[in-house]
This record gives sequence, C-alpha cells and structure tokens, in this order.
Amino acid sequence: MQHLLFSALALSASAHAYGSGSAGWDSAYSRATAALHKLNQTEKVGIVTGVTWTGGPCVGNTYAPSSIDYPSLCLQDSPLGIRFANPVTAFPAGINAGATWDRSLLYARGAAMGAEAKGLGVHVQLGPVAGPLGKNPNGGRNWEGFSVDPYLSGVAMEETIQGMQDSGVQACAKHWLGNEQEHNRDTISSNIGDRAAHELYVWPFMNAVKANVASVMCSYNKVNETWACESDAILNELMKKELGFPGYVVSDWNAQHSTVNSALVGLDMTMPGSDFNSPPGSIFWGSNLAKAVADGSVPQSRLDNMVTRILAAWYLLGQDQGYPEVSFSSWNGGKATVDVTGDHASVVRTVARDSIVLLKNAGDALPLRRPKSLAIIGEDAAVNPDGPNACSDRSCNNGTLAMGWGSGTAQFPYLVAPLDAIQVQAKKDGTKIIQSTTDSTSDAASAAAAAETAVVFINSDAGEGYITVEGNAGDRNNLDPWHNGNELVKSVAAVNKHVIVVVHSVGPVTLETILALPSVKAIVWAGLPGQESGNALVDVLYGTISPSGKLPYTIAKAAGDYGTTWNNAQVDDFTEGLFIDYRHFDQNGITPRYEFGYGLSYTKFDYTGIAVDVHARAGPSTGKVIPGGPADLFNSVGTISTTVRNTGKVAGAEVAQLYIGLPNSAPSTPPKQLRGFQKLRLEPKQSSRAVFELTRRDISYWDVTTQKWVVPTGKFSIYVGSSSRDIRQHGSFTVGGSWGN
Ligand SMILES: *[C@@H]1O[C@H](CO)[C@@H](O)[C@H](O)[C@H]1NC(C)=O
Ligand SMILES: *[C@@H]1O[C@H](CO)[C@@H](O)[C@H](O)[C@H]1NC(C)=O
Ligand SMILES: *[C@@H]1O[C@H](CO)[C@@H](O)[C@H](O)[C@H]1NC(C)=O
Repeated sequence: MQHLLFSALALSASAHAYGSGSAGWDSAYSRATAALHKLNQTEKVGIVTGVTWTGGPCVGNTYAPSSIDYPSLCLQDSPLGIRFANPVTAFPAGINAGATWDRSLLYARGAAMGAEAKGLGVHVQLGPVAGPLGKNPNGGRNWEGFSVDPYLSGVAMEETIQGMQDSGVQACAKHWLGNEQEHNRDTISSNIGDRAAHELYVWPFMNAVKANVASVMCSYNKVNETWACESDAILNELMKKELGFPGYVVSDWNAQHSTVNSALVGLDMTMPGSDFNSPPGSIFWGSNLAKAVADGSVPQSRLDNMVTRILAAWYLLGQDQGYPEVSFSSWNGGKATVDVTGDHASVVRTVARDSIVLLKNAGDALPLRRPKSLAIIGEDAAVNPDGPNACSDRSCNNGTLAMGWGSGTAQFPYLVAPLDAIQVQAKKDGTKIIQSTTDSTSDAASAAAAAETAVVFINSDAGEGYITVEGNAGDRNNLDPWHNGNELVKSVAAVNKHVIVVVHSVGPVTLETILALPSVKAIVWAGLPGQESGNALVDVLYGTISPSGKLPYTIAKAAGDYGTTWNNAQVDDFTEGLFIDYRHFDQNGITPRYEFGYGLSYTKFDYTGIAVDVHARAGPSTGKVIPGGPADLFNSVGTISTTVRNTGKVAGAEVAQLYIGLPNSAPSTPPKQLRGFQKLRLEPKQSSRAVFELTRRDISYWDVTTQKWVVPTGKFSIYVGSSSRDIRQHGSFTVGGSWGN
C-alpha cells in the first residue's frame, strides 16, 4: 500500500510530464486545472462516477456539476457505429476496415462515425479496439478490432482515432490489456511475458496514445493475476508513465473491484457506477470515494488528478464549444430527434468494397460477365425475413451476416443483402436469377442445377460472451462455416461446374473441404461489411472495381495450425510469446492456406527497384516521454521504397507490404514482421513508388533487461511484396557499433 500511495502521488505531481507534440494537451490541462478549482468535493466525485446503468440516456453517464459549464458526460458504444440509437449508420466492422489496408479509408470511417456521435450528443464513443488483438483465431470479439498484426492494428487505431477526434468525439481505445477471449473473461488471468506484451499487445495502444486518444478502457480480465482495472503495473506504470498517456482510464462496465485500490493504481472513471456483483447495487466510488478521500486512504491529489484528466480530454476535443445535447435514449428504442447519417453510406460502401479479399479465382471466373442465369444460394444471401435488427445486439445468425454480436454493434438503418443488389444488376444484364435462400442442400442443388453459375453464401459468426448463439458462447467453437456451409457448397458443386463461394465471417474460416471441390472456381471473403453489404459485393463481383483487400490474419489449413486457441481455464500463460498468426507459421515452417497480407486482384502488379536508405544508431531509445512513449522512438530512421507497376489490363489497387527481420543479435524474434504498407491505386501500365517510412520503433525490440526499446546491431533483412509470403524484393541494411558496454 505504501508503494501504491507513493506512485499515485508521484503521478499526480507529474501530471504534466508529457512532452512536445502535445500542445493541445498543455492548453487543455491549464483550462482543466482552472475549472478544477471551482468544483466542490461532491462535484469532483460526480465527474468520475457513473450514474448507474440506465440512469441516463447513454450506456454510461456521469453526474453534472453546476459550478462549471460541464455536462453529464455521455459515453456510448460501439466501435462500428452508435449503439441503441436510430437512425445511425451501421459501418463495416473493424476487421473489414483493417482489411482495406487503406489509411485514408480508416480515417474517413473514423471521421464519419465521430460525426454521428457528435451529432447525437455522444461525448465519448467507446472504440476503437486493439484488444483483443486476435491471437486466438476463434476469439469472440476479434472482429471488433482491425488485425492480429500489431503494426496494422496500430496504424488503424491511429487513423481511426484521428478521424473520430477531428470530428469532435472523444475516442476510447479498448480493451487494455490482454482481453483475448470471452470465456471466463471476468476472472481469467492473461499472464503475458514482458516482451510479447510490448511488441504485440501494447504496440497498437502506443499508436492510440500518440494519436492523442482521449480515453482508454481497462478490461475485465486479470493481467499477471491482478484485475486490469486494479493494476498499478498496467495503469500507472505502463499506460501513464511509460506511454505518457495524458487522458483518463475508464473501467469497462463493472470491471472495477475496489474503492481505494482502483483509485490508487490509476483508474480515473468508473462505469456505469454500480456493481452488479456483490452486494448487489453496491457502488465503489460515488460517496464511498468521497469517504476514502476524507479518511486519507485516497489522497485528494489523486481525485483531483482524475478530474483534471477527464476535464482536459473534454477541453482537448473542444467539447466546451456548443456541443449538441444528447438526442436519444438508449432505453426506449433509441429514436433520435436528429438524423446524423449524412452521406456516410458512401463511406460504408467504399470501405466494404475495398475490404473484400479475393482468395481464389481459377480461370478468371470473376468478374461475372452478364451471365445468362445465376443461382443465388444460402440463407446468408438474403436479409433475415424478420428484419436485420430482429435480434437484440445482433444475437442471432439469421440471414446475411453483416456484423457480429454483442455490445460492439449498432442498429441497421437498412441492410442491402447480396441478393438485393445482385437482383438489381441482373435486371440490367438480363440475367435470370434462381434463388434458394435457405441452407437446405436439396433446394440448393435444384437451384444450382438450373443455372450457368452458382454463388453460394456461407458465414461464421462470433461476439461478446454475454450472449450464446447456436452454442457459441462468444468465442467460436470451431473455424468451420456455420449451418453446414461445407455441405451446402458440396451439394452445389456436385451439380454446377462454375461455383463462386462468398464468405461472411468474423475471422478465419478453414476452407479445405471447399477447396477440394474442382467446381469451386472462386472464393471471396467479404467479412462483416455493414449496411451496404450487397452493393459493395456487386461492385467487386461484376468488376466495377478490382478487389483490393488483403487478409488481416492468416487462413490456416487446419485450426490446430495456429497453435493458439481460447481456453476454458482461469489462466492463459501466453506461452506462444511473440509467435502468433504469421509469426508462428513462419517460425515453425507451417504452410498456411492463405497467408497474412494475401489477396488477389483482377490485374497484376510488378515490383522493381528497391531502394534502402536507413541510418540508425544502435542501442536503447532515450529522451523524454511524449504521448505514446519515448520521443525518439517515433523519429524517422529512413525510408525503403520500391516501384509498383500495374501490368494487367484493368485498374486496380495494390497493398505493397514491408516486412523486416531483425539481426541475430536480437534475442529470438519472428523471422519477419510487418513494418510498413502502402496502398497504391494504379491504372493499367501505370507505376508508382511505394515509400515506407521507418521509425526507430519499427527496427527495435523490447529489451526486458534494460526495460527499453533497443535497436540491435547487425544486418536487418528487408522483404517487400504483395503478402507476407509473396516477397518480390529483398534488401538489407546494417546497424553498426555496439552499445551499453
Ligand atoms: C457542491 O455543489 C453542488 C452543486 O453542483 C451542490 O448541490 C452541493 O450542495 C455542493 N456540495 C457541497 C458539499 O458544498
Ligand atoms: C507479467 O509478468 C511477467 C513475468 O514476471 C513480466 O515479465 C511482465 O512484465 C508482467 N507484465 C506486466 C504487464 O506487468
Ligand atoms: C432465427 O432462426 C431460427 C432458426 O430458423 C428461428 O427459430 C428463429 O425464430 C429466428 N429468429 C429470428 C429473430 O429471426
């Protein structure tokens, strides 16, 4: 306790200990400090305490003070749109945004979501997600985040947060830390080794903090046997000191477990302000926090620091300037008094379209060219006859899948299913549509037998663990398609020689059974595309645009190949360390079916002329901590570039990818790790230079001994290509010298 008290005091004393690049925070802090002095103790406690679940219009609300002009703060789900409100836009899920590998689209999606949040009076939108990162391919909430790769996830966090916050809403990076599965999430301990913690799970949160994220949500699980929201190691030490986070930490809903300890270890806001556990209705903060400050068990400076952080985030976003009132209530159907959807459907369609990954395309089966007849098969082709919102929090997998289930959802204003959009196109083309929108194999076979080409829709769903769908308690039971999807495709492939399979899924689905069928010519992954699902798919199936999505995870031949899975125990020792997803496949020489970063196009790209211009000093990062980490970690150490040329006949976009292998002087490290990417749109015969800017962090590893990011000495390997295994250009650079002796 002595130690905790000390660190809490040290932190409040160093509340301004963040450095350059944070001018916005500096002025926000001065205004917050001035406001703090006008508040009485009850008001201070009210600003850090939720008004209880359903106690206000939003899923989280705080008490409004009257001494300053500051509202009851409205915190609202979700990472893909505004939950419990309508009309709102149902954006593509994080996993689709990640699959675009497109910085400008990630930003645009964030900006559009943020505009809706602000328009509805939401102060804090609870997203984006970098935890789960997705080390377990069957983890229930992976789809809420962007990618299992920390670099891609980090860029996506940064762009999304900038987009959201430029629109005026506070973003909330979640879930901190190690929340990799749904089973036992309230009790399981994620025992993460120091190095894997930094290089995988902390990494994208560094980007979030660097992007000036207003808030961070601590998770339900334990880290090293201590609850995340009760952990000095991960809140005070890691998030606030090491990453220099100037904003506030808010608990996941009921993830707080104590009055005094949580305050001392760095929790700044409790949500929703009531505890469902025991005794029922007990409140850890509110008047109990006031008592704890009065009796000295929580220093006044700590309470003042909580309030200052929360007010500073509010000022940082300019929310003191005419911010809209909350215009809906989560608890009465969510009907809003304003329509904030604007033209966001076009952002949805673009993200959905550019996230589609073409996995297989034998004999150029795609794009479709005015087929005479087309069989559209599977329940996943059409909207649930009961409507796209028939199940609360999308707690069923009926009809076409366009988002997962749980709190990370929003209400569909409408849902354009694949069948709807294909029918429109078919009318133009004079194509006869024969449909079978159930998962009945016999109906499927009769429909397919009568058509030139058959498109079969299969899916795989997952979500948050408070809901079980078809026996899946959040996490997926397996990586197979649901509803006997393999049998459905088999029945079609038996009677039709031109079969196209479309997969709507939350993550990897094993495809070996389907790939063994010679009639299956093309496979398309469309993920969780949101409300414009069908329109985006038609854009790609008919070649209005070439597919340009790339897998944000590996698709294995068998589920066991990943080496990681959710478990039903109370402990996960993260024994795989750094070796998750492609890092694991590369390290162990396992051939995946479709590797991380993979995705076909209707055109071809050629890579030529790699140039390497990297100059770095070996040794540890130094310098003062700015939001994100030590300042010099984000300094440029040079560039790597290559020319990409569209050698095909149609326009297309290529995601050029840079992977780096560290020299042997670094302790056991994955053979290659993503450290750059650039999406280039190219007309036929057009070429462009892909330029990857490297920062010091990109060539460092986390040294557990010195507790610093270190650039090792020796020869770094460079791999530039079209996926993590389709390497087109090799190079290297050397960092000389020695350090630390
Ligand atoms: C603090 O201010 C509130 C108004 O926001 C007022 O209702 C309350 O009585 C004050 N409390 C104390 C202890 O002065
Ligand atoms: C968890 O414990 C391990 C083993 O002692 C340590 O290396 C690591 O730094 C700890 N992680 C955190 C986040 O405190
Ligand atoms: C979902 O599908 C199941 C199985 O066909 C059915 O029993 C259920 O009523 C459907 N639910 C909704 C809300 O559409």
